[in-house]
Amino acid sequence: MKFAVVGTGVIGSGWITRILAHGHEVVATDPSEGAYERMLKQVKQNWPYAEQLGLAEGASLDKLSFTANLEEAVKDADHIQENVPEIESIKDQVLTEIDAYAKPDAMIGSSTSGIMPSELQQNLKHPERLVVAHPFHPVYILPLVEVVPGKQTNEATTVKAEEIYESIGMDVLHVRHEIEGHIADRLMEALWREALHIVNDGVATTEEVDKAFTHAAGLRYAQYGPFMTFHLAGGEGGMRHMLKQFGPALKKPWTKLIAPELTQTLYDDVVNGCEIASQGQSMSELDQKRNEFLVKVKKLAEAYWPGDTASMKKVTK
Ligand SMILES: NC(=O)c1ccc[n+]([C@@H]2O[C@H](COP(=O)([O-])OP(=O)(O)OC[C@H]3O[C@@H](n4cnc5c(N)ncnc54)[C@H](O)[C@@H]3O)[C@@H](O)[C@H]2O)c1
Repeated sequence: MKFAVVGTGVIGSGWITRILAHGHEVVATDPSEGAYERMLKQVKQNWPYAEQLGLAEGASLDKLSFTANLEEAVKDADHIQENVPEIESIKDQVLTEIDAYAKPDAMIGSSTSGIMPSELQQNLKHPERLVVAHPFHPVYILPLVEVVPGKQTNEATTVKAEEIYESIGMDVLHVRHEIEGHIADRLMEALWREALHIVNDGVATTEEVDKAFTHAAGLRYAQYGPFMTFHLAGGEGGMRHMLKQFGPALKKPWTKLIAPELTQTLYDDVVNGCEIASQGQSMSELDQKRNEFLVKVKKLAEAYWPGDTASMKKVTK
């Protein structure tokens, strides 16, 4: 199976690492100056974490090639993963070119965080072969991919795409109805908006908000999502008791949910807060610490899952 990765920034280089770690060939493409060197440096930095999670037979960095020419990159690929900036005009132009150059039966997955697949496929000659396949950073460690078919995607494409992502070690979450932001980012956006309000209202600093999350809910969320977490928070009565006790609070103004204005003050508070919290460490040092942490947490979450690990990966449809 031949993969092409279009756009080799944060997410593209993550996909490249994951695909190589599963033993496949990848042709990467990105027209920006210095893209090849940046991508190679990033993939080499990612590789030890892919190794810790286990490499497939034949996995090798030698199976990576690069060209700045999009046509050359995609023409022989069976699966093309698009990761260009989240700007609709750029996505539209690049996807139209991919569609024109790729084999008619090649699959296209878009990593878009928020654009709906029906929008992305509307100008394609072969719209039926496109799905949104939204991963999470760092792609080579975090297993979830949200697969979202558009109105013109055919079912066989979706099934095939899901098999391809499973074959590179991902846990597929099939999203039944396309919505902006898909599922996981919709949840994260709600949390992010509340966090910005709390800082904007002067209730807490960025450091305090981060602590409120990481020292409590964050620790639990690596094991269970909001539903199982609240089921356990209900004691013997589980979710039934939980809903009875805290259901009425949902009507109280605990949340604001409409985004605050991103004023210069809020911008400065948030940026300065993160820089202080980084304690002088570079982004690459922080990245490495985050990766070491995630590899351990991922293994721990698997060890404490109540069923076998296969049931952790599959979502009942
Ligand atoms: N960063 C995240 O956490 C994250 C998570 C999941 C999904 N995504 C999605 O992934 C996509 C890429 O995001 P990113 O964070 O990697 O952005 P990024 O800015 O790091 O990378 C984008 C890359 O696309 C390249 N590019 C620009 N025009 C191009 C073209 N015409 N052809 C090929 N490459 C081109 C740029 O040179 C750059 O290297 C976006 O759609 C984003 O929503 C991002």
